[in-house]
Amino acid sequence: MPQNQPPTYRIAPSILSADFARLGDEIKAVIAGGADWIHFDVMDNHYVPNLTFGPMICQALKPHAKKADGTPVPVDVHLMVQPVDALAAAFADAGADLVSFHPEASGHVHRSVQAIKAKGCKAGLVFNPATPLDVLDWVIEDIDLILIMSVNPGFGGQSFIDSALRKIEQARKRIDASGKDIRLEVDGGIKTDNIARVAAAGADTFVAGSAIFGKPDYKAVIDAMRAELVK
Ligand code: DX5
Ligand code: ZN
Repeated sequence: MPQNQPPTYRIAPSILSADFARLGDEIKAVIAGGADWIHFDVMDNHYVPNLTFGPMICQALKPHAKKADGTPVPVDVHLMVQPVDALAAAFADAGADLVSFHPEASGHVHRSVQAIKAKGCKAGLVFNPATPLDVLDWVIEDIDLILIMSVNPGFGGQSFIDSALRKIEQARKRIDASGKDIRLEVDGGIKTDNIARVAAAGADTFVAGSAIFGKPDYKAVIDAMRAELVK
């Protein structure tokens, strides 16, 4: 993306905070409310102390991830699992459009990235609050997405960790220096009242769970977030 062009912002509601008894309807409702991507948090109760969805749920929900006119809405799978490769392949087969993983959860980061791309998916790396960005020195040429965690992974509804703003700035510098079209996504504690600060640090894609699904009117929250982004 040319640096003088304003970013195209993307809002990715996380279904971790949705009503699990009605996930298909919740996905349709949040897309009608203006969601650009659907963020799918996969937790294995090993890499993180929580357990969520498997590939079968992703496959069942994929047909619901489309706009009223039938346009597919990207399914953004965030893998908080260890090991990575088998589940990455299974989610790719289940309809994921983007698959991101935590580098420290894979013994062979470059190989895991290649395997995800070989499945026709976009590949991303996720950085926990205390994890440095150094691995990007060796694989930034190969990835499509950098996901900065602004909470410690495992739960929704946590508070935004401010040190993430500095890491977003560092990641933005690396992306701009690479000249590649890489999305910079931030995940955890994103709200209408902090999204502009996160964008100012260099992010262009925003995961929000409790801020959206915790409210009755999804469209009102997403519209308010967009209004903050264009201020
Ligand atoms: C946490 C997940 C996040 C979480 C965000 O480990 O990766 O995607 O669902 O939820 P909020 O927006 O409520 O912090
Ligand atoms: Zn997530």
